[in-house]
Amino acid sequence: MSVTRVELAGRAYEVRVGGGLLADVAGQCGALLRKQIVPIITDSNVARHWQEAVSTSLRSAGHEPHFLVLDPGEAAKSWAVLEQVTSWLLAQEVERGDHILALGGGVIGDLTGFAAAILKRGCGFVQLPTTLLAQVDSSVGGKTAINTGAGKNLIGAFHQPALVLADLDTLATLPPRELAAGYAEVIKYGILGDPAFFNWCETNGAKVMAGERAAQEYAVDQSVAAKARIVAEDERETTGARALLNLGHTFGHALEAETGFSNRLLHGEGVALGMVLAARYSARKTYISQTDAARISAAIASSGLPTDVAALGLSCTGQALAAHMLHDKKMDAGTLPFVLLRGIGEAFLDKAVALDDVAAFLDEELAAG
Ligand code: NAD
Ligand code: GLY
Repeated sequence: MSVTRVELAGRAYEVRVGGGLLADVAGQCGALLRKQIVPIITDSNVARHWQEAVSTSLRSAGHEPHFLVLDPGEAAKSWAVLEQVTSWLLAQEVERGDHILALGGGVIGDLTGFAAAILKRGCGFVQLPTTLLAQVDSSVGGKTAINTGAGKNLIGAFHQPALVLADLDTLATLPPRELAAGYAEVIKYGILGDPAFFNWCETNGAKVMAGERAAQEYAVDQSVAAKARIVAEDERETTGARALLNLGHTFGHALEAETGFSNRLLHGEGVALGMVLAARYSARKTYISQTDAARISAAIASSGLPTDVAALGLSCTGQALAAHMLHDKKMDAGTLPFVLLRGIGEAFLDKAVALDDVAAFLDEELAAG
C-alpha cells in the first residue's frame, strides 16, 4: 500500500492506494467510525461486487453496516436523489462527528460528498472510489456536486473527505470502457505537467488497460500524487494551478453536452477527445508542434480511447459546440479561459481565446476524418 497526504492546513488527509483495502475497511477507517451503525451510500453495480466485502469487514469489527443502494448513473446527481440521501442519513441519526462512506465511482462520491457537506452544516465522509476515474481524480480534492437542468456540477461545495481508500482490486470488476474513460484522467497529468509520466503512459497504457497490477498501481499513485500537490497549492481553484486540471474539459464538455451527457460519450471519453482538440488547437496557434499534437493523440488512442471527433457523427456546427462552452462554469467575467499547451507537460491558461476562432477550428475537425 502507498500513502499520499493531501496537505491542507487543519484538514490534511491520506489517500491510500493498494489491494485489499475494502476487505479491511473497518481497520483502515479505525476511529473515524465511532458508532455501531455505519451508513454507506453506493449504487447497485458496485453493491453487486463489493457490498459483501465491506459488510464482512465492518461486521467483524462489531459495526452494523446500513446501505443505501441507488440506481447507477449520472441521474443520481440530482435534487431528487440528494433529498432521498439526506433524508435517509437523517433517519440514520448521523451526527456532525460521524463519517459516511461513499462506495462507488465519481457519481456516488460527488453526491455523497455534497450530502455530507450540507447535512447538519457539514459532517464527515470517507471516499471509497471504485472506478479508475474516481481513484485518480474525483475522490481527491473535495469537489462535490449535483447537476441541474442548467448544467452539470452547478450546485455543489468544496468539502474534503477525511480519508480516501483507493482499492486497486475494484478495477478488476470495472467494465473495460469505464477503465479506459478513467485512463484519460491519468494521461492528463502527464500531458499537463509531467513529461516523464507522459513518456511512461505512452508505453504502459495498454498494460493498465490489460489489468496489470504493477502498471495500474503506478498509474494511480502518480496521478494521486499530482492531484494532491495541485489541490494543496490551490484548493479552491483561485490561483490558476487547479484550473490546469481542466485540460480537455472545455472541449470535452461541449461534446458531452451535444451528446446529451449520455452513454454515447462517457465523461472520460469526452476528456480524451477534448485533450486531442486542445493539443491540435495549440498546434494551430503554433504554441506546440504538429508532431507533439500527434504524439498526444497516439498516446490517448493506445489505451483504446476515441481521438477522432468526426467519428462521433455529430450533425452540429462548430458554432453550436462553442455555444455550449458559454454555459461552462469556468466562465469568468465574460471570458472563458482555455487550458492550452506550450509543450508536452507544459499546460497554461489562455484567457484570450476568441470563441469564433474555436468555432472555425471545430468546423474543420467535424468535417475531417
Ligand atoms: P460512475 O460513478 O457513474 O461509474 C461508472 C459506472 O461504473 C457506473 O455504472 C457504476 O455503477 C459502475 N461501477 C463503479 N465501480 C464499479 C466497479 N468497481 N465494478 C463494476 N462497476 C462499477 O462514473 P465515474 O466515471 O466514476 O464518475 C463520473 C462522475 O465523476 C461524473 O459525474 C463527473 O462529473 C464526476 N467527476 C467529479 C470530479 C471531482 O473532482 N469531484 C472529477 C471528475 C469527474
Ligand atoms: N477534476 C478537476 C478538479 O478536481 O479540480
